[in-house]
Amino acid sequence: MALDKMENLSLEENMLRSEMGEVQGIPVTKPTCDIWDQVWNFKARPDDLLVATYAKAGTTWTQEIVDMIQQNGDIEKCRRASTYKRHPFLEWYIPDSSPLGYSGLKLAEAMPSPRTMKTHLPVQLVPPSFWEQNCKIIYVARNAKDNLVSYYHFHRMNKVLPDPGTIEEFTEKFMNGEVLWGSWYDHVKGWWKAKDKHRILYLFYEDMKENPKREIQKIMKFLEKDLDEEVLNKIIYNTSFEIMKDNPMTNYTKDFVGVMDHSVSPFMRKGSVGDWKNYFTVALNKKFDQDYKKKMADTSLVFRMEL
Ligand code: A3P
Repeated sequence: MALDKMENLSLEENMLRSEMGEVQGIPVTKPTCDIWDQVWNFKARPDDLLVATYAKAGTTWTQEIVDMIQQNGDIEKCRRASTYKRHPFLEWYIPDSSPLGYSGLKLAEAMPSPRTMKTHLPVQLVPPSFWEQNCKIIYVARNAKDNLVSYYHFHRMNKVLPDPGTIEEFTEKFMNGEVLWGSWYDHVKGWWKAKDKHRILYLFYEDMKENPKREIQKIMKFLEKDLDEEVLNKIIYNTSFEIMKDNPMTNYTKDFVGVMDHSVSPFMRKGSVGDWKNYFTVALNKKFDQDYKKKMADTSLVFRMEL
């Protein structure tokens, strides 16, 4: 694995955008496609924890909260490595032949238990061993409009992803599920259904913003961790947007140098609810809402687009 090399790349070396492929109709990168059998046959262990999200729903934030809980609020321990090394990103694969080489599978296999991993896979693509082993899963969902805007900016700053074009063009792709990891609508609905059958804690980004203490307590309970008020307050503080934005272990400024261009748009961009209002025109909003109504008609799932 060439993780150290990944940190020392110039922008020019990394203008290559990832080729896209598909697994069961879901757009994934070509390298993920190539190793799909290995992902599917991944051997989960009973004490594995999976943090699952649609991309840009608050994954990194949740990972930091989880790690801080697991490390009993010890900041130094949480700064032992950057997020993507602490928690293997299961399906993410870039061959060793690339200076960006990364294998979430290898990282996970080498990791002692208990492991925490990250995935953006829709529920039907989660390796079956996670269900067989009855693993705990934390799923975080974010309202479609903010999720879309965040994903749009991420496409602008992350040179591995396709150029998003204008916000109107990207919205079209988002609505059609023609983006990496597929349809947001199917993703959030699929996981919502699955939570009734499996050990899934389903959280909302908006709830986390509104009352981080309450949501962190939910996660603590789910992880069967009883931490005192002082530790809880420390976790709330250190997982706030402002602190995480300045933390090199969570803000991605030390990783993927030359791939993520923070001068275009920082990874820790705004961290708010309702930012979509700064990007959606009245016409775009109308179109989006009409389509949203149809796509979300068959679910009890309700999102808050503002607080
Ligand atoms: P914005 O682009 O809207 O700012 P992911 O980790 O799934 O890629 O999600 C990234 C999004 O979560 C970004 O949203 C980022 O700013 C936001 N985020 C990261 N840490 C956060 C925190 N501590 N509080 C609130 N939002 C956070």
